[in-house]
Order: sequence, then C-alpha cells, then structure tokens
Amino acid sequence: MAAAMRRLWVFFWCVGAVPASAQVCGNGVLEGDEYCEVDPRGGYYFNVSGLDCRDLGFDYCTLGCVGCEMHAPDGAPLGRDTLRPMSEGYIHGYSEEERRRLVAQAELWRERFLVPGLDYRAGEKLLEIGCGVGAVLAVLGEHFPGLNLTGVDLVPSQIAAAKDELASRGLRADLRVADAGALPFDDASFDHVYGVWVLEHVREPHPILREVRRVLRPGGTVAFHETDYAMFHVFPDHPDVAYLGEAQRALFRREGDPHVARALGARLVATGFEDVTSGPMGFHYFTGDPELARFTDYLLGFLEPMVPRLAELGFDEARLREGVAAMRALPSLPEASITQFAFRATARAPR
Ligand SMILES: C[S@@+](CC[C@H](N)C(=O)[O-])C[C@H]1O[C@@H](n2cnc3c(N)ncnc32)[C@H](O)[C@@H]1O
Repeated sequence: MAAAMRRLWVFFWCVGAVPASAQVCGNGVLEGDEYCEVDPRGGYYFNVSGLDCRDLGFDYCTLGCVGCEMHAPDGAPLGRDTLRPMSEGYIHGYSEEERRRLVAQAELWRERFLVPGLDYRAGEKLLEIGCGVGAVLAVLGEHFPGLNLTGVDLVPSQIAAAKDELASRGLRADLRVADAGALPFDDASFDHVYGVWVLEHVREPHPILREVRRVLRPGGTVAFHETDYAMFHVFPDHPDVAYLGEAQRALFRREGDPHVARALGARLVATGFEDVTSGPMGFHYFTGDPELARFTDYLLGFLEPMVPRLAELGFDEARLREGVAAMRALPSLPEASITQFAFRATARAPR
C-alpha cells in the first residue's frame, strides 16, 4: 500500500496519452509501468499499473493536479500532498449554486473592493488569473469599457461558465483553461494582471507570482485581492462563531493559505516587482445598517455549505451549526456588528 501511495504521488503533467514505457510525462517522472492520459473533460488523470485512479475514489486531476507530488525532470520532488482532484480539494466546489454565489459576490464587492482606485484604460490588455466563472472579469469589463479581457482558470467547467457569463453581459474575452503557475502566454503580453480570491486557494504561490511577472510588460501592473480569514470579528463575541472561524481557517490551511493576504506585499517584493503597495481595507456593518443583514447572508452563503467538510476535518458538527445559527441571529440583536479585513496588493513589473 505504501509503495502504491508513493507512486500515486507522482505528478503526471502530460499533453497526450503516454505509453507505459515512457519515463517522463511532462515534468513528471514515471516509474515502472505507470502512464497518464488526457481526461476527456479537459484535465488529466493517471493510471498506475492498470489501476484507474477513479477506482480509488479519485475523479481526475485537472491541470495543476492538486495534491500530487510534483517531480522535476531529474526526479527532485517539488512539493507534495495526498492525491486529490482539484474539483474535490477546492474549498467552494464547482456547483451551479457556487456559480451563482460567485456572480452575487462580485456584485457585492464591486464598488467597495474590486474596482475602486484602479486605472485601466481602453485598449489595454488585462489578464485575470483564477477567473472562475467570469464574475469579476465581467465586472471589470463593465467598469472599464474597451479593456481587452483575458481570463484563465484551472477548471474547464469554470471556463465554460465564464464564456456564458461574459457573453450574456455583451462582453468579449479570451478565456482559457490554464494553470496560473504555467501561463500559456508570451513574455510581456499584458498591461495588467488581476487576481481576486485565488491565491488563498493555492498552497505555493511563488510559481504564480513568477508567471505574473513574466507575462506583464515592463511597468505593467498587478493587483491582488485576498481576504485575511483571521481578521474577522463578530460582536458580541460568540464562542461557536469563533469555533466556526477556526474550522474555516483549518480547511483553508489544508487547501491553500487563509493568511496569504497579509503576506502579499512581501511576496511581491521577493518576486522582484517594483512600487509594491499592500494594505487592508476594513468592512464594518452594524445593527441599524441594512448592510449587516446582507453581509451576514453573504458570509453564510459560503460558510454554511462548508460545514460538512469542516466536520470531516474533525470539528464538532453540532457546534459548527450553532455557530451558523448564532451568525444568522446577529442582525436581529439590539447591538451587533461584523468587521472583516481584506487586502489589496499592487505592484509593477520591473521597467
Ligand atoms: C474563489 S474562485 C474566484 C474566482 C474569481 N476570481 C472570482 O472572484 O469570481 C477561485 C478560482 O481560482 C481557480 N484556481 C485555483 N488555483 C488556480 C491556478 N493555479 N490556476 C488557475 N486557476 C486557479 C479555481 O479553479 C477557482 O475557479
């Protein structure tokens, strides 16, 4: 079993079916009679000694193949985790309900976080990495008419939904399935790169930051937007809401980084960007402000569906549900508030 699991961790990055005799599949090193194949849905799965990984309960690995061990061509390990398909590992999943949530989320944050302070001009080329179902890319297209839009996401169904979303809003965009850590674009292809709620889902952001720098023209800008999941405060304090928050951070730690927001500035500096800025934006809603109910609903829109997965991690489901109930009750309390911080970090590619 241990040997089988070790082999399961080998990451196969391939562009076509590879015969069992091949020793290298993309940047993955094959052992023995292992081989990999293109999944008809657009991702890749691999097969170990004739054993279909789907027989092991795995679906398939999309580009990026969350959870595999990646090997450099010389066999050196580049990182590893247990094997999971992106569709399973990704915290929010890829349901129709989640598609609608992302579109509503982009509307909620449009004026308060996503577009203020940005200066994009007609004719300029913008890439959104991790564009999901195109919700924010559409907001950017509407807010900056004439901006030339490109979006990439790891998951084919997200890109299909993004194509529908942009088209339904009368916007044109080049939308592609791609890993932000291996972008299918030439050097200096874009004036701007935009990212929102994407690096928090990534274990290892350095390859993505390097790619962003590479595809930006000299002096081109990058803007990342991420939430810090520890900078979330509910008043009055409630132990089960705190427990729910702790569980959410534990899940993010497993799949990505709940605190990437506060690290963005330093990481952009370390990647060689110039004119780096990074700062928190605070959002505070209180009893008497109709936004308190709206914001609470928004938060529960992703926290409540997470409860079964948090319980799988070992958190007490009854307590998690108490936390959800306590949050739901918040807007009806005589004195209550929610405070949340998110960060925007910006920088320029070296001139
Ligand atoms: C929370 S969604 C946000 C989508 C979009 N930015 C928005 O705000 O509506 C995160 C998206 O990032 C994608 N993603 C995660 N890792 C990625 C990677 N390495 N390359 C490209 N997309 C990635 C996921 O598939 C998912 O669609």
